[in-house]
Amino acid sequence: MGHQKRIGILTGGGDCPGLNAAIRAVVQTAIPMGYEVIGIRNAWEGFINNENEILDSNNTTGIIERGGTILGTSRVSPFRIEGGPQQVGDGFNKLGLEALVVLGGEGTLSLTSRLADMGLSIVGIPKTIDNDVRETDYTIGFQTAVQIAADALDRLRSTAESHHRVMLLEVMGRQAGWIATYAGMANGADAILIPEVPLDEGKIEELCQMLEARKRRGRNFSIIVVAEGTKWEDKPVLRRGVDITQQGETYRIEGLGGIARILGEVIGRRTGLETRVSSLDYIQRGGTPVAYDRNLAIAFGVRATELVKQKRYGEMVALKGKAITSVPLSKVANGVKTVDMNIYEVAARFFG
Ligand code: F6P
Repeated sequence: MGHQKRIGILTGGGDCPGLNAAIRAVVQTAIPMGYEVIGIRNAWEGFINNENEILDSNNTTGIIERGGTILGTSRVSPFRIEGGPQQVGDGFNKLGLEALVVLGGEGTLSLTSRLADMGLSIVGIPKTIDNDVRETDYTIGFQTAVQIAADALDRLRSTAESHHRVMLLEVMGRQAGWIATYAGMANGADAILIPEVPLDEGKIEELCQMLEARKRRGRNFSIIVVAEGTKWEDKPVLRRGVDITQQGETYRIEGLGGIARILGEVIGRRTGLETRVSSLDYIQRGGTPVAYDRNLAIAFGVRATELVKQKRYGEMVALKGKAITSVPLSKVANGVKTVDMNIYEVAARFFG
């Protein structure tokens, strides 16, 4: 066993449903090819701190339907650690890795591209509920988040209808409004607000007039979906690490978002309509993956392992149309895939 070829696998950045299905696929494809697979715990932090475990068919069975990642994750970049990239290189040698499979979103894949440029043998798999990774139609986790958000909107619809209210739901999407667009479209939302279409005075006025017109037409409730990264007058409204002082104690509020709450206040005040705001927060990132995400994870995992075998490093597996293919990581790095405006315009036909 001493000279068995060894590959590593890690999950970086925010978790998402479907990661475990991908881990299982890589492990159970690689073993019959003669590889030993080592799971790196807690992403780059764990890589540098030598936290890992051997993965085999026993510890990757029964995880296909489990949300999150059995390996743990973290948002720590090796490029933010003193001597970090060097330590990652050393870790490769210490662990005797022939290659590393990295499951990441835009942030993780961008730094992975830099590591690949340094000569490390890496293959990427795109995963994030945000679906904002370039060069792939979908990422692992997106369809599950859309389903959770669409289910939430259906629930909000019935209570909005009973109380004749305007109901806003804030969903994730810092830089792109994919979840908002797809979930809103599936629910027949009256408005979908996304980072790609920044708000200004004119748009808010239009939105208020649309809500008032609905009311005049006898539609006595409305549903608005808001992506957390929606910009107002070109200023990002995302907040993170806001300090709040209460009875002499200062608390740091972590997490992003808050735009829907502000908008709800403005809409309520300007239209006189009763308005309520909900936020899905981390609920949309947890739990069982839908079948689509499991199958995408499996297809990506198998292809990534084949790329390793062919020593095609520096590539990321991707879905283009019906084809599972691969693209250079450098084409994916340092940029996001924003919402396809053709799809947004289809959703917009049903607004109001
Ligand atoms: O994984 C991407 C994402 O879900 C974003 O949409 C969201 O803004 C962010 O993660 C929040 O993640 P965390 O609080 O875990 O860093």
